[in-house]
Amino acid sequence: MRSYSKGGEKVTAKSYVLWFTGLSGAGKSTLANEMHAIYQAHGLNSYVLDGDRLRHSLNRDLGYTPKDRAENIRRAGEVTKILTEAGVIVLAAFISPYKRDREMIRQMFAAGTFIEVYVKCPLHICETRDPKGLYKLARAGTISNFTGITSEYEAPEHPELVVKADRMSIPACVDQIVAYLKQRGLLS
Ligand code: ADX
Repeated sequence: MRSYSKGGEKVTAKSYVLWFTGLSGAGKSTLANEMHAIYQAHGLNSYVLDGDRLRHSLNRDLGYTPKDRAENIRRAGEVTKILTEAGVIVLAAFISPYKRDREMIRQMFAAGTFIEVYVKCPLHICETRDPKGLYKLARAGTISNFTGITSEYEAPEHPELVVKADRMSIPACVDQIVAYLKQRGLLS
């Protein structure tokens, strides 16, 4: 959060990150994109930073071992920090399965500006959805270290928000996030 003067009038630039974590297929990217549309409608500058996208560019040298995921999240955190310093609200959607890695990112941000949103959805629902067909490949042993199947997901213990993506519709999840942001004075 930064304040500066412009023509005598005080302008406050509020920036923060909504860090969506959860299993593949839980709805992280969908929610990030929905929130992006809301910020756009409010005339606010936001950006969706998505695991799938980053893994095709900046992080294309990384795989899915715990070490590579840690590096994936570290780089994502650094990009997020740069963007928030530029006044952009970042909507980060990464499985980010390890508590240690998420905590490392949290430490990079001023208190209250890292908002962890746990997109909670049971494995069997994500697996039924299987939007990219990856769970099927993981069960068949074609891909290894797949989160929820052959690699662990450590659920957040104290996230700022938990959205129950299996029981609530996407609009209802969005309403919950918006209500939280309004209550925190982060969205008018
Ligand atoms: S993270 O664990 O390092 O945070 P990230 O969010 O960047 O993962 O990427 C997850 C995406 O990569 C998934 O949505 C899926 O499309 C793809 N993916 C490919 N292989 C795996 C795998 N072994 N485990 C999890 N996701 C995988």
